[in-house]
Amino acid sequence: MKHLIVYSHPNPKSFNHAIMETLAGELTTLGHEVKIRDLYAINFDPVLKASDFELIQSGKVAADVKVEQDHIAWADVISFVHPIWWTGLPAMVKGYIDRVYSFGFAYKIDDTGVTGLLNGKKVLIINTTGTPEEIYAKIGMFNSILQTSDDGIYRFCAMEVLKHVFFTAIPYITDAERAGMLVEVKEIAKTICNK
Ligand SMILES: Cc1cc2nc3c(=O)[nH]c(=O)nc-3n(C[C@H](O)[C@H](O)[C@H](O)COP(=O)(O)O)c2cc1C
Repeated sequence: MKHLIVYSHPNPKSFNHAIMETLAGELTTLGHEVKIRDLYAINFDPVLKASDFELIQSGKVAADVKVEQDHIAWADVISFVHPIWWTGLPAMVKGYIDRVYSFGFAYKIDDTGVTGLLNGKKVLIINTTGTPEEIYAKIGMFNSILQTSDDGIYRFCAMEVLKHVFFTAIPYITDAERAGMLVEVKEIAKTICNK
């Protein structure tokens, strides 16, 4: 299978970076093709501009957006790896969605309503939080995030959500606990490849 990993974190020493490397390594070991889009490393511009709207009205997209859309078109499975910032997608990832998951590419709207155009594409989401699991579970924050990202973005575009994983309390746990999470990432890689 063809796997695209969309990764966003400014710090190459972050735990998210370790997750991304572990996921890419395991998928490669399992014999899959893997491409990584490290949004900070490629200096992706996340700001949706007037020029983007003008292009979309004439059925086109900016050259940098087209590069990312071609990667999506290539992939069978798209994995998002990023932290939760202010209870949602970091601005870099949100801007990537704003610009790359564009009208006419990821969805269309006509007399029949909204139609997702990324059917056939599968998505895995791996997020980290600073907040401990029991707090977000108790206040319903996981459900809020699942609704706005899985329903509001990925299923809206007709993608199949394979799994959405939260690794929690990252800054406050032990190295051994973080190492255990990376073992879990390898298991997730194996599981999604069997779906
Ligand atoms: C700008 C910013 C906003 C954050 N907002 C949240 C938040 O809303 N909820 C939360 O649980 N953690 C939040 N955090 C903590 C990060 O999610 C946490 O430190 C990160 O997931 C740990 O992974 P890392 O080591 O790869 O950065 C925030 C961190 C930053 C820098």
